[in-house]
Amino acid sequence: MGNNTLDLRGKTAVITGAGNGIGKAAALILAQHGANVVCGDLHKETAEKTAEEAGKFGVKAIGVACDVTNEKDLENLAAEAVKNMNGINILVNNAGGGGGGREKFDTLTLDYIEKIYRLNVFSIYKLSQLCIPYMNKDKYGSIINISSMAGQMTSHNMSVYGSSKAAINQLTKYMAVDLGPYIRVNAIAPGAIKTDALKSVLTDEMEKKMLVNTPLKVLGETEDIANTILYFASPMSKWVSGQVIAVNGGGTQSLE
Ligand SMILES: NC(=O)c1ccc[n+]([C@@H]2O[C@H](COP(=O)([O-])OP(=O)(O)OC[C@H]3O[C@@H](n4cnc5c(N)ncnc54)[C@H](O)[C@@H]3O)[C@@H](O)[C@H]2O)c1
Repeated sequence: MGNNTLDLRGKTAVITGAGNGIGKAAALILAQHGANVVCGDLHKETAEKTAEEAGKFGVKAIGVACDVTNEKDLENLAAEAVKNMNGINILVNNAGGGGGGREKFDTLTLDYIEKIYRLNVFSIYKLSQLCIPYMNKDKYGSIINISSMAGQMTSHNMSVYGSSKAAINQLTKYMAVDLGPYIRVNAIAPGAIKTDALKSVLTDEMEKKMLVNTPLKVLGETEDIANTILYFASPMSKWVSGQVIAVNGGGTQSLE
């Protein structure tokens, strides 16, 4: 079998925003493939709920309250991983967000812009810094940054979210250069994923519009992103670093 394996037994993964959506799906698939998982989320209860579900795969799993915009919380998340799991090999920088279509350019404040960059970009610098010594110690590290199609295309009123996600794409490439040879760094740019949050606002009409430029004619599921995270986390991608892969049904799910 050698390196052609998705087997993550003996490895530890830290996932931010693991209480819901893509982060939760990532924690579960990594646990299913044998990784111990540290599930960070703004909400302790949902982080613990994901950990409880992940634990059913027979791995060690803990939930930790962590607001990725708070430096102390990030330090605590990494410390909990090291204390409970003895190391860190995989980091999924997933927590992120923005004003989805409500970022009217002429009303943007610097406070808002800083808040979104702190959430989407600064958190990646800080948490990655905290994890890299352990990845190097084990000579096995994979950092997976969750970007967005908004970082590659344009639409109205998304300039802060979109540019912060574009920053993640380029940051991923610089990190790959700086952090080798034991650490690989890749990013995933999801298209529209049917998370609970999207489902709660999605109308048939919206979905129809989003599928016009989607060759595969369905919206994404969280498992579509989780499957790609598993690939990047595992030795299957051992010679892949500095890449941004769009997982988007082959197109863009624009509402414009
Ligand atoms: N869902 C999509 O269609 C889509 C598309 C492109 C990119 N993305 C990206 O995927 C990532 C995950 O999004 P999702 O749709 O799964 O979100 P979600 O809303 O379904 O879940 C996000 C989780 O992150 C947690 N969270 C929010 N702010 C946090 C913070 N400051 N610190 C720690 N945890 C926090 C929430 O509590 C929640 O559990 C984000 O970076 C998002 O930008 C999502």
